[in-house]
Amino acid sequence: MAFMNVGLSTLGMDKMSRFKVLKPHIVAFIKHMTLKKINNFIRAEINRIFKRKVLNSYPYILKIESTNICNLKCGFCYNSRRTPRTGERAYGRMSFENFKKIVDEVGPYLFKINLYGFGEPLLFDETFDMVKYATQNNIGVGISSNMNINRPDLTQKIIDSGLEVLIFSCHGATQESYSRFMGKGSMNLALNNIKALIKEQRRLKLKTPLTDWQFCVTRFNEDEIPLAEKKAKEIGINQIRFLIPDLPEKAESEWFSNLFPKRSDVLKDAVGCSWVYRSAYINYDGGLLPCCRDTRLLTNDFGNVFRDGFMNIWNNQKYQGSRELIANPTQPIKCKIMCQKCPAAGFKER
Ligand SMILES: C[S@@+](CC[C@H](N)C(=O)[O-])C[C@H]1O[C@@H](n2cnc3c(N)ncnc32)[C@H](O)[C@@H]1O
Repeated sequence: MAFMNVGLSTLGMDKMSRFKVLKPHIVAFIKHMTLKKINNFIRAEINRIFKRKVLNSYPYILKIESTNICNLKCGFCYNSRRTPRTGERAYGRMSFENFKKIVDEVGPYLFKINLYGFGEPLLFDETFDMVKYATQNNIGVGISSNMNINRPDLTQKIIDSGLEVLIFSCHGATQESYSRFMGKGSMNLALNNIKALIKEQRRLKLKTPLTDWQFCVTRFNEDEIPLAEKKAKEIGINQIRFLIPDLPEKAESEWFSNLFPKRSDVLKDAVGCSWVYRSAYINYDGGLLPCCRDTRLLTNDFGNVFRDGFMNIWNNQKYQGSRELIANPTQPIKCKIMCQKCPAAGFKER
């Protein structure tokens, strides 16, 4: 696994949970492969293994945030939706036209787009157009949603879009624990939306979207794991995953479940970063980041894809600095980049 470096999101998980995270990616790889994509994939992985600074490959998976606006305020998420300060990204949404620009430039090399970040993608109609456009361009699309959406055509919209994976964020199996994590969200509304989707999928004999219940385990919902598993089975959700939430240090003693290793312990097994060779995170306003670690601070952006084009940023000074740091973590830092503080890559703040 270390050789493959499958990423921080699976650290600390048992083999089965890791497989559940990777399965949709493997499916996308097989379903959407072309000679061009495979050729690029091999180049990207060779670049990663040899820790090259300048890449002759494109990313093969992208995380694109259609919006950072959300209908809920989950515990500690995006600092629970506070007003942005000077120098921080405002709230907003990506236009369909801008999304198309990204797909038109990088799409021929992509197996997958994860079309979500810190907002709720199903709040806005353009998300469905984006999913459809990427799907028509032979790219598998996954989104993550709290499914707290009150519109009668939701099921139809999801199915018509061609969505491949729906991560269903539901961090509790009773309304009480759900509210503790997900604020004013309604578990019933979310579950009814999922039930309606699965019912329609079964009627139409559709295999997609794969429904993937993501349950962040805390001290307040850890007892509900068996109940959540039972509910998932009854409803017909394809898979349920229990994961360690990413919580600020000050919250760990109150919130952290003892069923899992502490995140700080898990990070000790991190084997450096693969994002800067394989992937990237694009904010709704085009701000390009190597990953989703700190998307608020505008000075973190490596560039703007709408202004500069993706490939003009991918090998720029910041990216080269980041890759140099990964190749040699002890070297002096030449330019200021967010990666130099990343514990996942094994760096301490300096
Ligand atoms: C911030 S949410 C935004 C997308 C969408 N609104 C949703 O709820 O799925 C993105 C992902 O982060 C996950 N998530 C939420 N809180 C988390 C936490 N404290 N640690 C790790 N993942 C978390 C959610 O389950 C979701 O898959």
